[in-house]
Amino acid sequence: MYLTTDEERILEGEEGETLRKAMEILVALGDIYGADCLIPIKSAQIAGVSYKTIGDAGLEWISDLKGHVKVPSVLNPAGMDMIRWNEMGISRDFAKKQKQIVEAYGRLGINTMCTCTPYYLKGFSVGYGDHLAWSESSAVSYANSVIGARTNREGGPSALSAALVGKTANYGYHLDEKRIPNIGIRVECNLKGADYGALGYVAGKISGNMVPIFSLTSNPTNDELKSLGAAMAASGAVALYHVENVTPEARKMKYDFPEEVVVIERADIEEVYATVGGSDGNSECDVAAAGCPHCSPKELESIAQMIKGKTVDKEFWVFTSREVATKYPDLVETIEKSGAKVLCDTCMIVSPAANNFHHMAVNSGKAYSYIPGMCRINSTLCDLEHCIKKVVSDDN
Ligand code: F3S
Repeated sequence: MYLTTDEERILEGEEGETLRKAMEILVALGDIYGADCLIPIKSAQIAGVSYKTIGDAGLEWISDLKGHVKVPSVLNPAGMDMIRWNEMGISRDFAKKQKQIVEAYGRLGINTMCTCTPYYLKGFSVGYGDHLAWSESSAVSYANSVIGARTNREGGPSALSAALVGKTANYGYHLDEKRIPNIGIRVECNLKGADYGALGYVAGKISGNMVPIFSLTSNPTNDELKSLGAAMAASGAVALYHVENVTPEARKMKYDFPEEVVVIERADIEEVYATVGGSDGNSECDVAAAGCPHCSPKELESIAQMIKGKTVDKEFWVFTSREVATKYPDLVETIEKSGAKVLCDTCMIVSPAANNFHHMAVNSGKAYSYIPGMCRINSTLCDLEHCIKKVVSDDN
């Protein structure tokens, strides 16, 4: 891979050990994937934040790094709400380590707003064609597909390296030819809300790491596209998809529908709703959660409207970024009046809080897919209304 004189100097360690290591990671990836050079990035989103997933080894690695990121960079969700961790049943020891991790990232100049929806943050704008180094899989899918930006599905260390250097290796989804759809998915039923998570769950399994293009009979909102992409990134490894006449790149490039076409019908969607994820399929839901990926303001509003006047008698978590929660205190108040909790900086998957329950109802295909493996409890996918019904008292 071609390196400029400045990049060579960094690789030689002339700008310190942290940057040398970062450059080494970028060059190694570039060589493996056949990149021709490094390209500047507009922003980075860095996974590997939850103490649950990175442990002491990760904390040690991050704490040793020195320097400052070169582009706006933000963290993925941590293992707890950084303020209300106590209410999540998080231990003191876990909380201490989690705070150390977030502080270590903060010392590198990274925005410690821990979220998988950085595209809602003020000052973090992303546009069509922008090159990024993002790592959380649903954020990657949203950036590539719904915005038309360009990012590979980075690992935590490679996203951090790109943030420190301000560049990434030019391969994969940064290149036009890797963005052309190579499998067609024709959906022959109308979809709404959680249906898109169920569709993503099915389509991800079919697509693996291909680039699907959908033909849909209904017109999805951006929140529904967010849900579709998140689920495909979890049940498969889809980092980019297109929807005919909907997503920006499909509209601009007018891609041909590929020869390989799979048809999805209503029965395929219903089968996901009817199947409990996890081992002991029969237990009743004792917790429900929304906000995977983190809720948009519109999603918070829908939850507030639906839960207003009801009483939650089990546990209901709503996850969003701290910035969105702070901006809409009235919505948060309405939701919390019911007994539900609006939690920030974290989610049902990367926090250990779910371990205290048996069976979680979710309106997200991604959460449905990950809960059995990551939290070792059962999961049920249903629409928001049914999630709420499962945790409110009978007289509501
Ligand atoms: Fe975000 Fe956690 Fe879901 S990081 S996409 S809310 S698994």
